[in-house]
Amino acid sequence: MYEGYFNLALAPFQNTPNSRFFFETDQHKEALAKLEYVVRNRRGFALITGEIGSGKTTLSRTLIKRIGSEARIALVNNTRVSAHQLLKLVAQEFQITLPAVCDKATMLSLLRRYIEQQHALGRTVVIIIDEGQCLSADEFEELRLLTNLESETDKLVQLLILGQPELRDTLRHPRLAPLVQRIAMYCHLNPMSFEDMTRYIAFRLVRASKPGGRPNVDFSREGLQVIFERSGGVPRLVNLVCDNALLVAYSANTRLIDSQIVGRAVGQMMPNLEGAITDISMVEPAVGREQELDDGRRL
Ligand SMILES: Nc1ncnc2c1ncn2[C@@H]1O[C@H](COP(=O)(O)OP(=O)(O)O)[C@@H](O)[C@H]1O
Ligand SMILES: [Mg+2]
Repeated sequence: MYEGYFNLALAPFQNTPNSRFFFETDQHKEALAKLEYVVRNRRGFALITGEIGSGKTTLSRTLIKRIGSEARIALVNNTRVSAHQLLKLVAQEFQITLPAVCDKATMLSLLRRYIEQQHALGRTVVIIIDEGQCLSADEFEELRLLTNLESETDKLVQLLILGQPELRDTLRHPRLAPLVQRIAMYCHLNPMSFEDMTRYIAFRLVRASKPGGRPNVDFSREGLQVIFERSGGVPRLVNLVCDNALLVAYSANTRLIDSQIVGRAVGQMMPNLEGAITDISMVEPAVGREQELDDGRRL
């Protein structure tokens, strides 16, 4: 809606895991490089954790873009399922035809056969599980059995698990020790620093601008500071605040995003942010802050 006013071709702060907008902060870059290393060198198992909105799904989509054509990839986002359903989802992602009635043993053997065939053809087989925090020890155990396959030199299946930090608690289950020992690489995504967030905002604006054009909008340092305070540097919240700030600036007919514009944007969106913002320790909770009304009562 405001794109033309700021000389942009696209909305710059949409909350979708679009790899076109993938910005390499040091830690996103490192996580992506590690995932790519595990896949290309067939090291077996990688784990990425991060709070909601820290960039896990965006990372997985960017990886798929990079390795997509050379690999066979099963991407599973729906993890609120039983172990049996999980294997079924993986088989469906690989487009394996399953018999109408298919018990777990049959499914496992069909999956193994597929994996061995692909390996013989020189293709890398990758299973990516997003939202891994919803998996129980049972489902991890099933995945372990599936990824047990190895040749003399490398693992036949590359298993990449992404999820919220509580995923680590499930992995501490003693039964999963054999799986945990095989983690070739682990990374935790922290929120962005102020400097990274500033570069992230500039990068997304340039990515969204018209070919050969420049975005016609400025952010003051104070404006950026308020964005950082309110978002805690979490990409998803940075997007939300910036999107609203551009809208407020557009309505106010200004191309300068200063602290006042950001403050107004945040004020307008607080109801939507309630759930998300409670995660962020930097934001003062509303409870306990009293307000005096004109007639002396306190709210
Ligand atoms: N490295 C990044 N580069 C560009 N945008 C990002 C990056 N990380 C996160 N985002 C943005 O933040 C939003 C939330 O990220 P997402 O990957 O969905 O987080 P998570 O899966 O950890 O909850 C995404 O829709 C995307 O727009
Ligand atoms: Mg996600």
